[in-house]
Amino acid sequence: LIMVIDFGGQYNHLIARRVRECGVYCEVKPYTVSIEEIKQKNPIGIIFTGGPNSVYVKDAPRIDPALYQLGIPILGICYGIQLIAQELGGHVTSPDRREYGRTETTRRPVESLLFGDQPDHFISWMSHTDYIDRLPEGFVATAATASCPTAAMENPKQKIYGLQMHPEVNHTEGGIGLLRNFLYNICGAAGDWSMKDYAVTAVEQIKKTVGDGKVLLALSGGVDSSVAAALLERAVGDRLTCIFVDHGLMRKNEGDEVEQVFGHGKINFIRVNAADRFLGRLQGVSDPERKRKIIGEEFIRVFEDEGRKIGKVDFLAQGTIYPDVVESGVGEAAVIKSHHNVGGLPAVVDFKGLIEPLRMLFKDEVRALGEQLGLPEFLVWRQPFPGPGLAIRVLGEITEEKLSILRDADAIFREEISNAGLARSINQYFAVLTGMRSVGVMGDGRTYDYTLALRGVTTTDFMTADWAKIPYDVLEKVSGRIINEVRGINRIVYDITSKPPATIEWE
Ligand code: XMP
Repeated sequence: LIMVIDFGGQYNHLIARRVRECGVYCEVKPYTVSIEEIKQKNPIGIIFTGGPNSVYVKDAPRIDPALYQLGIPILGICYGIQLIAQELGGHVTSPDRREYGRTETTRRPVESLLFGDQPDHFISWMSHTDYIDRLPEGFVATAATASCPTAAMENPKQKIYGLQMHPEVNHTEGGIGLLRNFLYNICGAAGDWSMKDYAVTAVEQIKKTVGDGKVLLALSGGVDSSVAAALLERAVGDRLTCIFVDHGLMRKNEGDEVEQVFGHGKINFIRVNAADRFLGRLQGVSDPERKRKIIGEEFIRVFEDEGRKIGKVDFLAQGTIYPDVVESGVGEAAVIKSHHNVGGLPAVVDFKGLIEPLRMLFKDEVRALGEQLGLPEFLVWRQPFPGPGLAIRVLGEITEEKLSILRDADAIFREEISNAGLARSINQYFAVLTGMRSVGVMGDGRTYDYTLALRGVTTTDFMTADWAKIPYDVLEKVSGRIINEVRGINRIVYDITSKPPATIEWE
């Protein structure tokens, strides 16, 4: 176990993720973690993260200095190196020049296990105002930049190391190598941990938490809740109940597919066919925000109604993943995943706690875990799908007819993207039924039908996105098939706006 001690920096979970990428199990703990807990966990190494504070202010986050005496290797990054310097008798100051972004960095001519065969000159990613102007006793500086004399320092005898730069960020050349050196050569990690081990550990932890209690999970059929369900099934078997609210706004066959995967295992799987309820409430509504709100509210009601039927439950589980925790901006506090638009915990759950076994993981790690757990590829590699579903892809008022047209067109688009081998390189792609109708000619007759928009984007974080350059021949095939196979559409356009200024969804 590597323990990452969190001082509030923006890249902290990226550090954890990099450690896992190096095949080493790791846990993130807040800096308030007690020395007893650290001793009890007995990590083979500790990493201090960055953080927004200055170490010399009165209430700066600190850690029990007894930690330095335990003989456990420590790597301090950014705030972490400054804290070590200050606590061990060095000095930290705020110079005139700050360092942000790509910075030319030079190694000092000293042997260093941390730097290993890192080149003498490299680009590092810096993000700091303060720097160390006097080293603590027993430390040597191992790298410098033009404006920072201590870009790295170490006391190999005490196994304490520090980096002012961010090795976890890709822009730091050889950054992952520095982490590897720390993990393998200094902490002695074997580097043989994998997502398989994550599954084992997570199952053990869930078992311990739940005891013989009962767990309820709202399953959406998306990657996260599906992987959470598979994990929980292993841990608690038939004491898990999954409620799958089918709001009638899913893509073609999606509800049945989810039922096929989860409806036949050990878990209690309840599919609630609530399309009438949702569509009833959405009748005549065309404002996008109203639609979202109605769907969110109705979701809770349906969930509660079903929850009441199954009786007492001890725990509520959620497939919250790390980016959800960041987006909601609440740090350690329990968050209800906003994509279910759940404003609070369903009142029916007389619950002892919330179980979020994926909270530490990034999306691609959740996928790797899903594969480990044997979930089918179509679930594991499912692209993101908004909670309100097709309701926000039928622009304006929703009708059964429009939903059906959109479902068929969207299915063809997805099938052809998959046939063209583009399914994993385009991060999200879907069809939108615009409310616009225009004139066309089919056979000998004039038509007056809907315009369908196709949207495809490439993105890593979905906060910004570029429109996908889908080859013309693929677009041509999609267009031809949709016009021929789906009634009600006579014109197809491709959305060539990035985000910003547009959003990924149209509503
Ligand atoms: P936008 O349209 O804001 O979408 O660029 C960014 C990502 O979020 C998804 N999205 C939603 N997901 N509930 C969700 O769970 C929603 O109400 C919602 N609106 C958008 C969208 O599909 C894209 O991946």
